[in-house]
Amino acid sequence: MTGATRATQEHAHETDVLIIGCGIAGAAAALRLSRNHQRQITIVTRAREPEESNTRYAQGGIVTRGEDDSAERLVEDILAAGAGLSLPLAARILAEDGPELVREVLIEQAGVEFDRRPNGELAYGREGAHSRARVLHVGDATGRAIIKRLIALLQERPNVRIVTRATAVDLITFPHHANDPLKVYEPIACHGAYVFEQDGAARVRRYLAGATILAAGGLGRIFRYTSNPPGARGDGLAMAYRAGARVINAEYVQFHPTTLAVTDGEGFLISEAVRGEGGRLYTPDGRHFMDEYAPEWGDLAPRDVVARAIHHEMVEHGYPHVLLDIHSAMSAERIQERFPTIYAKCLDLGIDITRQPIPVVPAAHYFCGGVWADAWGHTTVENLYAVGEVACTGIHGANRLASTSLLEGLAWGDRAARDIVRAGADGRCLSASVVRADDVPRWEEAGTEEAADPALIWRDMRTIQHTMWHYVGLVRSARRLARALRDLTHLNQDIDSFYRVTRLNDALIGLRHSVQAALIVAEAAQHNRQSRGCHYRDNEKGAAVVWSAGDLPAL
Ligand code: SIN
Repeated sequence: MTGATRATQEHAHETDVLIIGCGIAGAAAALRLSRNHQRQITIVTRAREPEESNTRYAQGGIVTRGEDDSAERLVEDILAAGAGLSLPLAARILAEDGPELVREVLIEQAGVEFDRRPNGELAYGREGAHSRARVLHVGDATGRAIIKRLIALLQERPNVRIVTRATAVDLITFPHHANDPLKVYEPIACHGAYVFEQDGAARVRRYLAGATILAAGGLGRIFRYTSNPPGARGDGLAMAYRAGARVINAEYVQFHPTTLAVTDGEGFLISEAVRGEGGRLYTPDGRHFMDEYAPEWGDLAPRDVVARAIHHEMVEHGYPHVLLDIHSAMSAERIQERFPTIYAKCLDLGIDITRQPIPVVPAAHYFCGGVWADAWGHTTVENLYAVGEVACTGIHGANRLASTSLLEGLAWGDRAARDIVRAGADGRCLSASVVRADDVPRWEEAGTEEAADPALIWRDMRTIQHTMWHYVGLVRSARRLARALRDLTHLNQDIDSFYRVTRLNDALIGLRHSVQAALIVAEAAQHNRQSRGCHYRDNEKGAAVVWSAGDLPAL
């Protein structure tokens, strides 16, 4: 069938609100919006299962208010971990609204069964850079428990449609041309997205919406080593950037200090909660080293400090990894009860963590920057909201405080939804502002006749990941960044020409997004010569100002 024939058969999908991404942020938004049964909500996810997203892999838990705790204390901890770059207003919203939403949405509505103490009260865990134990958890698979319940709730709502194996390709915006001087001053508006439906005819359909919520997650997969699942490849960031949305703080990519360092276990997270329960880091020859790097915090220092300390030990002494010992701090029974997933995975790979230390290395984990979003999730593009990891609300500054990401997704997903509800003040929906299908061009397939070559896609993806890992990783320098930019720019051109003549598939769409996301991160990193938080530049004259949470006074 030719491109032209297929194009004429395409019918636009119209909805009130389109949500791109199905993690906690997208799900929270859908849950709030679907309370009005008149409102039609469509969620698209590239994954096969709606539960598959970064949220599913969150182990440690979700921050709330612990005992002997307050919103002020949480704000202080967020700001301290953020190394002076967090937005206090955003941190305050999170600390004040977040715990209430955990109770209302997760515990009461969704029925998430967080771990409790023998007396029935909620059990709070501790993690790095937290001055209090305040992290709610479900064993070491908190994200999985949360997303399972949220998706189950959404599947009961008749006005929510979840479309799986549907990859967003581009946001729908109309170009502003210089020949229309009045229009040039109007903000760009988003009217939905072009979405590649992987099944059936495998083609791009227009999904038109009055409001679009970008909840497409992060970009860990653009690095060679990461704790993130395959979908975290910067799709949301690249699409928003191309649509003209403002992107900020893109140099701040957080590396998790401890992922499993054994064959077949690559990228598997060893939760910070392990150190929260007394786990300690050692070199392979048995030296405990964290007190040398962060005397006030030791093993529970902020993530940027711990990840760099491990990196430094590995580079300085040629260690292939460091060791994390939990068996000296907890009984075997307690380890199996508190960390069942980590215990089972390690045992599977030949490590009994009730008796042996765990070999660990840092890996890319969380994107602290992203599409600029205000307190209600608005971006600089009209009718486009960004929530969760794809967004930068300013909370995380230069380094995210552990276990705040699920809470941010929950809070901002809910806030964006409330803003949309408010905008449709008549209590119905935004249909009035849905653009007419006839005004939106169908996806142009002409010329894309070549079959996608999987070897080329795989190799290019690997090149991006190696480039990012070696030159834009934990320790950066002017020379490395210049090399990365040169290589990525060249690769971007190659991928673009390949993209223009090739039949679409999910991997090709992801490759294009990945190289663009990598360029955004590398450019921001090159532009910012000040080391701060998780953006660290080495060996440079004039770039010696090092700001990290470790420099801030302990609370
Ligand atoms: C972890 O369990 O260490 C990850 C939690 C987080 O990234 O906040």
